[in-house]
Amino acid sequence: MADRRSSAPSARLPGPEAAPALRWGVIGAGWIADVFARSLLGHTASRIRAVASRDAARGDAYSRRYDVPTVHSGKRAYERLVADPDVDAVYIATPHSHHRDHALLAVEAGKPVLVEKAFARNATEAREVLGAASARGTFVMEAVWTRFLPHMVEARRLVAEGAIGRVVHVSADFGGTPEYDPRHRNFNPELAGGALLDLGVYPINLVHDFLGAPESLRAAGALAPTGVDLSETVLMDYPSRGAQGVALSTFEADTARVASIAGTEGRIDIHAEYYRPSSFTLTRGGRRMLEFDGSGPLGWQHQFAEVARCVADGATESAIMPHSATLEIMDVLDEVRRQLGVVYPGE
Ligand SMILES: NC(=O)c1ccc[n+]([C@@H]2O[C@H](COP(=O)([O-])OP(=O)(O)OC[C@H]3O[C@@H](n4cnc5c(N)ncnc54)[C@H](OP(=O)(O)O)[C@@H]3O)[C@@H](O)[C@H]2O)c1
Repeated sequence: MADRRSSAPSARLPGPEAAPALRWGVIGAGWIADVFARSLLGHTASRIRAVASRDAARGDAYSRRYDVPTVHSGKRAYERLVADPDVDAVYIATPHSHHRDHALLAVEAGKPVLVEKAFARNATEAREVLGAASARGTFVMEAVWTRFLPHMVEARRLVAEGAIGRVVHVSADFGGTPEYDPRHRNFNPELAGGALLDLGVYPINLVHDFLGAPESLRAAGALAPTGVDLSETVLMDYPSRGAQGVALSTFEADTARVASIAGTEGRIDIHAEYYRPSSFTLTRGGRRMLEFDGSGPLGWQHQFAEVARCVADGATESAIMPHSATLEIMDVLDEVRRQLGVVYPGE
């Protein structure tokens, strides 16, 4: 039996519905753009002012589904969206291969921009975008929605307060079984496919959240016939702190999707699925001390609220998902791909 219960309202971020309103423009009307609309419209004061799609029918359908007043479609649709004076902030919902170019469009137009994970194909591209944003003073954030979920906010707070002592081991996994299609963005090297950039970013981000950038890493994995990675286990090593992290990702198995942060005095076990709104158990001395229930609908709205708060405050980055984290994680992804032998065309 747990000794104490707490729930989402005790977490230290205000609810997403309380965040200032932004008028968003969406680049790319694919799968995650739908999730964006449902989370944003249902749970924040923000609205979608415009959508840009290469395909007029797809853009029109999105506009009808979510009552979006403006559709930019066809040639230079994305350029027209970032120049739209009614758009306050831009959401990049395109494949990894195109994040750099599309993020730069928004940055050069002086618009705050939220870029889907993985932030770019590699660290060089990430530095290019963040360098341009810094030169212009434009807000940029990688859409690592998990960091803003109530259970993650609470877990970080407890760890910072010393609830589990010194963190010595962090582990997390994310495996799923998408159908193999060499043209799909998951498997297509032209679109910077692979389990690492699609799923591995979650467990690696979680390890980074509690341990920071690794001093070294080792990766083992398997490749798809297209040359992108099918699976990898990444050992992130912190010898000067006596700590390690293990991040597993795969397109070949449905894994448990749990995370654990173990310290010298206790452990936080985040229940499946840790990257969505979830719950955790804090254990000390073999005794369950606390259950935190951060479950709730969708979950992506928390990061959209963070962008709105940052933009209202005139910030150029989020303290919870700062540029340094994006760059350090891109460096990890680059090194894992180097060890596995995954190279994207034109790199
Ligand atoms: N945060 C999360 O939970 C989550 C979940 C899934 C995916 N994602 C991320 O979201 C991004 C998009 O993933 P998705 O699953 O939404 O992909 P998707 O369904 O394939 O949609 C991507 C969209 O990008 C646009 N696009 C522009 N250039 C393209 C090209 N050369 N090839 C293909 N599409 C192109 C297309 O929109 P138009 O044709 O309409 O312009 C397309 O519909 C990725 O970064 C992915 O990792 C995040």
